[in-house]
Amino acid sequence: MVLRIAVLPGDGIGPEVCAEAVRVLQALNLDLDIHTADVGGCAIERFGTALPEHALRLAQDADAVLFGAVGTPRFDQDPSATVRPEQAILGLRKALDLFANLRPVRTFDALLDASPLKPEIVRGTDLIILRELTAGAYFGKPQGQVGQPPDRSAVDTTSYTEAEIRRLLIMAFELARGRKRKVTQADKANVMATGRLWRAVAHELREEYPDVTYEDMYADACAMHLLRNPRNFDIIATENLFGDILSDEASMLAGSLGMLPSASLGDALNRHGYRRGLYEPIHGAAHDIAGQGVANPLAMILSAAMMLRWSFGLVEQAGRIERAVARALDDGLRCRDIASPGTTVLGTREMAQAVIDRL
Ligand code: IPM
Ligand code: MG
Repeated sequence: MVLRIAVLPGDGIGPEVCAEAVRVLQALNLDLDIHTADVGGCAIERFGTALPEHALRLAQDADAVLFGAVGTPRFDQDPSATVRPEQAILGLRKALDLFANLRPVRTFDALLDASPLKPEIVRGTDLIILRELTAGAYFGKPQGQVGQPPDRSAVDTTSYTEAEIRRLLIMAFELARGRKRKVTQADKANVMATGRLWRAVAHELREEYPDVTYEDMYADACAMHLLRNPRNFDIIATENLFGDILSDEASMLAGSLGMLPSASLGDALNRHGYRRGLYEPIHGAAHDIAGQGVANPLAMILSAAMMLRWSFGLVEQAGRIERAVARALDDGLRCRDIASPGTTVLGTREMAQAVIDRL
């Protein structure tokens, strides 16, 4: 089986962590057919657009996409810029119809003290934030700013169709069946019409999954319960914007943003009959540490493991990567972001090598 992978490293630490994930894949002796292209801020510099046509085509022609991170300080300081690095990832999600974003949050025992939360709270956390990824406030129209100071106004639109909600929730119930059989749907049905529609569609669907425990939760309460008792959750299904926020919050259960992988999936299948997907760490481009060789590559490496599992059915090899990561952590190896007294701090490349040595 030839794994045709589009590698889109992006900006900041993206290229550093992508290179290490590819090295881990190579160490598994897989038949890789890798194609790379610039996206994000570096593509804007070169081509004037964050998602050049040829990069999009690479992604469309691939079985799976490995994506680093996008964003540059220049654009962070200019929120009114209309060409933005983030358009690369948003454009790919939309163009490939990757409507479901899986963000697993699992606490490694070795990292219990890396979390700012008490070990007895985070121990045993094993949940997935299932975030809707192609609708909601990220894509709703109208969106924009009008007027001049002091009379400017801006608008964003949250909109969802029943079909967009249903396909995400079906994925939630199906995922729960292979796990702890619980779905928590987080919305703001007390305030938002879209939240009430999410709830209504979920209540219809739950009838078809009597074997799965279902609960509604307000998204704000969910944010609180995540820190109070994370073990109570299995699948948290939620709309795009809430999923973005809740997943950054949940990363602290795992100790660091640098530990969390993600998979973005649609219903389309690749040449091998598995879901085409895009795999990226949930962390950003982290320009403050870019180019220093200190970024934690584990979220990117774990994203590559998710790719093997979801887009190629290589469950065995995915498990090997995940176990190698756990062993490296058990051996006291850390990157700077998760370091604690008594552990050995490694750079990006050394950490990836430690994983390779333990495959
Ligand atoms: C994420 C990121 C993106 C998002 C940004 C980079 C557009 O925060 O993947 O969580 O908001 O979806
Ligand atoms: Mg985010």
